[in-house]
Amino acid sequence: MEHTDRAGRIAWFQEARFGMFIHWGLYSIPARGEWVRSWERISNEDYQPFFEEFNPSDYDPKAWARAAREAGMRYAVFTAKHHDGFCLFDSKLTDYKSTNTPAGRDLVREYLEAFRAEGLKVGLYFSIIDWHHPDFPHYGDRQHPERDNEAFRGVRHDFDNYLRYMHGQVEELVTGYGRIDLMWFDFSYDHMTGETWRATDLVRMIRRHQPHMIMDNRLEVSGEGFGSLLSGQPKEYAGDYVSPEQIIPPEGVLDINGKPVPWEACVTMNNHWGYTERDKFFKPAPMLIRKLVECVSKGGNLLLNVGPDARGMIPEQSLDILRQIGRWMKRNGESIYGCSPAGMDKPDFGRITRRGKTLYYHVFDNPIGYLPLSGLKPEQVESIRLLSSGAQMKIEKDWITNNYPDHVFTSFGPNPVLPDETDTVVAVRLKD
Ligand code: GLC
Repeated sequence: MEHTDRAGRIAWFQEARFGMFIHWGLYSIPARGEWVRSWERISNEDYQPFFEEFNPSDYDPKAWARAAREAGMRYAVFTAKHHDGFCLFDSKLTDYKSTNTPAGRDLVREYLEAFRAEGLKVGLYFSIIDWHHPDFPHYGDRQHPERDNEAFRGVRHDFDNYLRYMHGQVEELVTGYGRIDLMWFDFSYDHMTGETWRATDLVRMIRRHQPHMIMDNRLEVSGEGFGSLLSGQPKEYAGDYVSPEQIIPPEGVLDINGKPVPWEACVTMNNHWGYTERDKFFKPAPMLIRKLVECVSKGGNLLLNVGPDARGMIPEQSLDILRQIGRWMKRNGESIYGCSPAGMDKPDFGRITRRGKTLYYHVFDNPIGYLPLSGLKPEQVESIRLLSSGAQMKIEKDWITNNYPDHVFTSFGPNPVLPDETDTVVAVRLKD
């Protein structure tokens, strides 16, 4: 049965918790980030050589999908079109598309087929901004590559024509590519928000074709602001979740009535979304594992980005990080999937996630002696297990713990080094 209400639609997303963001396109050739056109004020003409050259002969979406699944990711979001307006799909509404480059391939279709085959939910990133289209505002726009080019001062743009194009492309994607689970729109700013995009019409069209599809909140905002999802009276185009970017919300996200709002933190592995040759500042896998735990412990998802290069290869550093995360997820994914905040104070040593009657204590710092399972009373505990092996852990009671009768203590044994120094997970099943 298709869930078409917001709570029903979002259920798989909050089960999945961990996804792969993929930023790929012509900007992978200059290799200075996906905003290179804006940052360097590159004209369409000066950007055209990258279109003529684009031929990612090593593109192997099946390998990408395996890497995502083996990392423990349960969904992915792939750039169908970024702000530069280049379409990685065979749009009938433009010639500015991957099938017209030397690649000659519908890269979106291949991504969708490969990731579905690996059992992942599939999402598309679609930029509502388009710096290539002649009817998107140029001069005076906040970030268009020609924003301060006097040659474009006073040029008239038929924005309605642009909206017909943009809506038409979204309709191509939601009618021509099978089931899409998620649409990641990007992004609104200043007066370019909501009905300026004819957002209600856009969402209604999408719902007609794919009523189950979830959307982010960027028909209203960008990574700045949350939009009307927090207002208690969300607009029709508010989306299904909010999309904090390059940050994990300090306390999670609640609406005006204190009700938790679904959210997904999107985070780069280095400091760029699109492939950037000189950006080798990759976050260590242990750090990213703990950030995934932090997101889930606060009721959110982590959408972790890879930026494939001009040849279609995910950088080796990213693949290595994914492999390390996958090794941890293989043993401890139960403490992530379908988990949520525990409703308890954060312990000194780490974090807590919860699924039903099971609490997952994520231990980042080994305690001196016994581990205090904060927030629990002895009579509540059914069992304690080391999640990674299923081994029993006992409640410890002796002269050391007698000063703290209202606390539950357990022990990892005599070794002062944690079984997993990144995050050792203790699963505590509560009595009914
Ligand atoms: C920002 C950037 C865009 C990137 C997105 C990912 O909106 O403009 O380049 O794709 O963040 O969250």
